[in-house]
Amino acid sequence: TRSGWWRDAVIYQVYPRSFADSNGDGMGDLAGIRGRLPYLKELGVDAVWLSPFYASPQADAGYDVADYRAIDPMFGTLHDADAVIREAHALGLRIIVDLVPNHCSDQHEWFKQALREGPGTPLRERFHFRPGKGESGEQPPNDWESIFGGPAWTRVADGEWYLHLFAPEQPDFNWEHPAVQDEFRSVLRFWLDLGVDGFRIDVAHGLVKAAGLPDLGRDEQLKLLGNQVLPFFDQDGVHEIYRSWRKVLDEYAGERIGVAEAWAPSVARTALYVRRDELHQAFNFHYLTTGWDAAALRAAVDESLDAMRPVGAPTTWVLSNHDVVRHRTRFGSLARARAAALLMLALPGSAYVYQGEELGLPEVTDLPDEVRQDPSFFKANGQDGLRDGCRVPIPWSGDTAPYGFGEGGSWLPQPAEWAGLSVEAQTGDPESTLELYRAALRIRREHPDLGAGDAVEWLEAPEGVLAFRRGAFVCTVNMTEEDVRIPGAGSVLLASGELRSDPDVVPADTAVWWQG
Ligand code: BGC
Repeated sequence: TRSGWWRDAVIYQVYPRSFADSNGDGMGDLAGIRGRLPYLKELGVDAVWLSPFYASPQADAGYDVADYRAIDPMFGTLHDADAVIREAHALGLRIIVDLVPNHCSDQHEWFKQALREGPGTPLRERFHFRPGKGESGEQPPNDWESIFGGPAWTRVADGEWYLHLFAPEQPDFNWEHPAVQDEFRSVLRFWLDLGVDGFRIDVAHGLVKAAGLPDLGRDEQLKLLGNQVLPFFDQDGVHEIYRSWRKVLDEYAGERIGVAEAWAPSVARTALYVRRDELHQAFNFHYLTTGWDAAALRAAVDESLDAMRPVGAPTTWVLSNHDVVRHRTRFGSLARARAAALLMLALPGSAYVYQGEELGLPEVTDLPDEVRQDPSFFKANGQDGLRDGCRVPIPWSGDTAPYGFGEGGSWLPQPAEWAGLSVEAQTGDPESTLELYRAALRIRREHPDLGAGDAVEWLEAPEGVLAFRRGAFVCTVNMTEEDVRIPGAGSVLLASGELRSDPDVVPADTAVWWQG
């Protein structure tokens, strides 16, 4: 195995609900994923990250876990999970599973027991139960608000309140409690023993809360997910947890990794999660939240590389996931999405591909409210309840819904344009987005210079154009509305769009990899 496989790995995010349905119930499942592993191998990714498939009432699409060691029947059985891991390994693909340690489901045994036993009983210590404020405790213990909107506290029948940074169905664990710490080391081992190659750690920045759960103050709420350490996000105490988890990961052969989903206030704070004795990667949301602007993207690339270099961790690059508007829609065109992909795949470090981005899928913005299954998210960023739009089941084949996703419909309706965007419709078409991703991943694999190292050598380029050297190659991305002439670009290796008759011209909203 290449030492440090994760340093330049391309990791594909599978959202199990929407990837492939093997039993015709309209919901994706593990057997469906198993059947599509050859597709992922052929696409050319190195590893697959599976969003949660554990026992869950699905209040937050599986990020409300009722049993960390059990597979929800809607996704299959532990045998199915074992088969996905084994068959992925047989194909040379690594498997990363999602771990949700900040909170569990309100149907988790511990929480149910805490409710049954009432105030002052042991299980309540494993969560954040508090008496309310006011005459009869009728007000929440502090002024924190949930990411999904509304108070971050819910009152139970006996009068106490419990903390949930997300939905009321997602009570936050008390990470000061030894039983919580022990349980998650045991959960890590359970999945590591099954052979998983790593964990994507949900809300990695939220586990530890400031002592005393102090009020935030109204005006600070607006900075939620934003630009400063909050009493419930990015507290220094979380790093002790990851140091202890790194010890567990390092007990296992095969370089098992931890990937932090940490919405930290800066790339410098994010880098603290990937110090040598902590986790291996952290999602680069600074890059993901940067718009289609050459100067801003160049700054984000430099800041990310400069932040990760001192701690010896690779940068990660990610454009889409199950929580944000798909970048074809965010950037405003398929051309830009294709160019952004070539830009991302030429940068040093590890790149994440969200299911369907290789097909150029847009956000589905006209889902009727009655079909939405998602509590609103990113309220603070003005994106309210948009997440279903990036979760519409994947089109595999055929001219009618559910386009090969399964035999029994799909849990979210698919738009008619899915027919022309399916895997079948794009396979073999050299102009398709699917074949562009396949070619880019093949070239990246054949030329490790593209994903290697921890620095980018910027070249002179007109305003609005990014050009940087990657070993023997140059990546030029024209983000302007005009064609630009780039001497030498004619020795094209790969282009994200149709080129002009003059090979040295890079058209608007186009990226070119060329040898120079
Ligand atoms: C996940 C979301 C989820 C939230 C609460 C986020 O990090 O990506 O999908 O709603 O955590 O678990």
